[in-house]
Amino acid sequence: MRLFRRSIEIILANQAPTGAYIASPNFPTYHYSWFRDGTYIAYAMDAAGEHESAQRFHDWAAGIIAARASQIRNALERREKGERLTSQDYLHTRYTLDGREATEKWPNFQLDGFGAWLWGASQHLALAGLEAPPPKWREAIELLASYLAALWDYPCYDQWEEEPDHIHIYTLVTIYGGLQASAKLLKRRQWADTAETIRSFVLANGVIDGHLVKDIGTKAVDGALVAASTPYGMFMPDDPLMRATAARIEADLRKEGGGVHRYKEDTFYGGGEWILLTAWLGWYYVEVGEPERARELLALVEAQANERGELPEQVARNLNDPDSYQPWVTRWGPIAQPLLWSHAKHLILSNALS
Ligand code: BGC
Repeated sequence: MRLFRRSIEIILANQAPTGAYIASPNFPTYHYSWFRDGTYIAYAMDAAGEHESAQRFHDWAAGIIAARASQIRNALERREKGERLTSQDYLHTRYTLDGREATEKWPNFQLDGFGAWLWGASQHLALAGLEAPPPKWREAIELLASYLAALWDYPCYDQWEEEPDHIHIYTLVTIYGGLQASAKLLKRRQWADTAETIRSFVLANGVIDGHLVKDIGTKAVDGALVAASTPYGMFMPDDPLMRATAARIEADLRKEGGGVHRYKEDTFYGGGEWILLTAWLGWYYVEVGEPERARELLALVEAQANERGELPEQVARNLNDPDSYQPWVTRWGPIAQPLLWSHAKHLILSNALS
């Protein structure tokens, strides 16, 4: 309970006056706000009853999209004409706290954060008891849903900002969730149809040995794949496909009862145990009716808070590749702590359990 309040405090203290949530305040590379991280943070705040904070984030995000309407329409036109899209056409994945694109080089073409945001905006309306999206949100939802419906099968960087030449199952499930939510909200049948096409595509191309895979054409799992049910609802949590996916994550991405790794070959900071993924698996277990397993994961997460109650991005334990830990520390500094997305997943799991 103490850490629950602390997670809320840390998130509030790191929300800019603009509404943006900084990814991590003391890790210079993360002095930006990501649609991906921000959506889960806002959802966690909604789940904890902090609707005003969530609303301010969504307002900021909707403003960013609405301000790029002509860029998005341009990209859609070019796509329609069968022209090649360039980096000018793609929306950036992260922004400065006052809503500008960053200038340094970054793998910007990532679609998952926008799928997540479409889902998150509609969750906010439901959880905060609002009937309809404000006009600026409506415009942003319209633009983004059209953008994702047109580009969903483009290879892009994944949720870990890697692998640009692949199509990723996690990315597809966020787009699925975002399009279904938008179709309901703005009553657009065609987005729900596209979502169903994406689901069929995943079933046809993204399943090996009865479980989901990280990327089309690969065999391994990714710790974020529980998102296919929790929260994006492409499959029910107790669907045999989800059960098998969770079992593979347990077998391949947890060592000695520790937390969840991103994927087997991850070498970022040595490839440690990610707090947000450990909590996410716990959230899945709550949904599938296994609260004891969820409680065990919550305890693992809470044990990682420092004396100030701050949760890190990852814990350097059971590293996939110990030799690549130090080079990252030298390059970017110690592991980000606090990471707001870790606090968000902690809040979501605690809330789901109670
Ligand atoms: C992660 C992303 C995340 C970003 C900010 C990156 O290292 O791979 O998923 O959005 O950090 O937290």
